[in-house]
Amino acid sequence: MDAPYVAVARTEAIPPGTFVKVLIENRPYIVANADGHYYAVEDNCSHEDYPLSFGCIDGDRIKCSLHGSRFDLGSGEPLEEPAEDPIATYRLEVEDGQIWIDPSSPANRARPRD
Ligand code: FES
Repeated sequence: MDAPYVAVARTEAIPPGTFVKVLIENRPYIVANADGHYYAVEDNCSHEDYPLSFGCIDGDRIKCSLHGSRFDLGSGEPLEEPAEDPIATYRLEVEDGQIWIDPSSPANRARPRD
């Protein structure tokens, strides 16, 4: 797969209901497996800039462990307060068990926070 895609993990390393945290150029991302569907999102809660990697996968959502907001892994939209803004999502491809993500720009309208 060509740039801007970056190889981040093998599918067998991410069982359903789990995720891994990956760093690309020192920026953290979450690559999650929600019942066989893979997603890539920024590792940052939009509420208070807290790592979502401290949280957990809940169906097709990721839950922030600090105040409990859940975000849709596909759209990045917050589904519960207190978060009001979406998290950034990224394009992801799977090829022969290799997961690739495109970190060059969010796939949704969210802007990654520094
Ligand atoms: S920091 Fe995530 S919900 Fe508050």
